[in-house]
Amino acid sequence: MKFKKVDKIDEKLSVIGFGCWGISGPEYWDGTTDENSIKAIHKAIEYGVNFFDVAPVYGFGHAEEILGKAVKGFRNKIIIATKCGLIWDEEKRIMNNLKPESIFKEVENSLRRLQTDYIDLYQLHWPDPNTDIGETMDAMLELKRSGKIRYIGLSNFSVSEAKRAMQKAEISSMQGLYNMLERNANSYHSIPLEYRTERDILPFCLENGMAFFPYSPLLQGLLTGKFTGNESFKDVRAANPNLSGEKFKMYINVVKKLNDIADKIKKPLSQIALNWLIRNEAVTSVIAGAQNSQQLEENIGAVTWEMDDALYYEIERIVADSDVI
Ligand SMILES: NC(=O)c1ccc[n+]([C@@H]2O[C@H](COP(=O)([O-])OP(=O)(O)OC[C@H]3O[C@@H](n4cnc5c(N)ncnc54)[C@H](OP(=O)(O)O)[C@@H]3O)[C@@H](O)[C@H]2O)c1
Repeated sequence: MKFKKVDKIDEKLSVIGFGCWGISGPEYWDGTTDENSIKAIHKAIEYGVNFFDVAPVYGFGHAEEILGKAVKGFRNKIIIATKCGLIWDEEKRIMNNLKPESIFKEVENSLRRLQTDYIDLYQLHWPDPNTDIGETMDAMLELKRSGKIRYIGLSNFSVSEAKRAMQKAEISSMQGLYNMLERNANSYHSIPLEYRTERDILPFCLENGMAFFPYSPLLQGLLTGKFTGNESFKDVRAANPNLSGEKFKMYINVVKKLNDIADKIKKPLSQIALNWLIRNEAVTSVIAGAQNSQQLEENIGAVTWEMDDALYYEIERIVADSDVI
């Protein structure tokens, strides 16, 4: 494994992390079984992955429970990054809530599900327009003082929102949508994004010594080269408008060209997509999802080679010519 270090986090983080949305259970992500999820997590730890990104809302508590079960006995070897700010009601309708009383409740539930007494990195999942960020940060500071959380991170926040949060407390990381084909996206699953990742967030993280975690690094499986364009997703990907219709066709066309490169250099496209991110100095740990040990092993194989400039510029030319970004 290779590791990266940023000023605002003491530990070195593995360049490949483990994104836990995919272990939410078969109801939310096709092809998952808890047994395979746990095996994949154990395999990841064996290969030196030390960064695990999860959230309460992934499978409505299920992903945190599975992660907690899987990392028992390995707790001191890994960094657990979970989130707060997306809560749900009895009908599983999801709402933003970053009010202190809600965060205090959420943290206890996460600690219980994760079977731990501390969270390494506690991230605000999405901004909450109905709560003053100062109030939220006071709550986060209280959690830090009590030892329940070690670092504070932001996810899906713009630079101006982050600056407001930083007036109250140290922010150690940011997380946002970023992959070879979604660099400055203005929406995610039809939710408007108030930030532009490559243009604004990456330089901001570098300037401030914060970690950056790119989510959907494989564009939910597209950048493994396995989709044909005829897929009709029944899982969470059904909510991604870019994985159906015209945009999906455009993506498939560019992926065909990227697959040709993969064939030429005899590397899986997934590793090319991950190495494209790893070579970026602002990217700390790439939180790729994996449903099973095979996917995990293929993805971790990215660390066995590096993307040289020639390959990088070839990809940049194909993507620029494709009109998808
Ligand atoms: N902060 C946020 O708002 C936010 C939003 C989204 C995600 N995230 C985080 O980012 C993580 C990753 O994002 P993501 O889950 O959206 O997508 P992703 O990492 O781009 O794609 C993961 C999916 O691709 C497929 N896959 C992975 N490796 C593969 C391989 N080698 N060969 C074939 N298929 C492979 C698997 O699904 P199939 O096998 O079913 O195709 C897997 O679940 C999440 O788990 C979560 O931790 C955060």
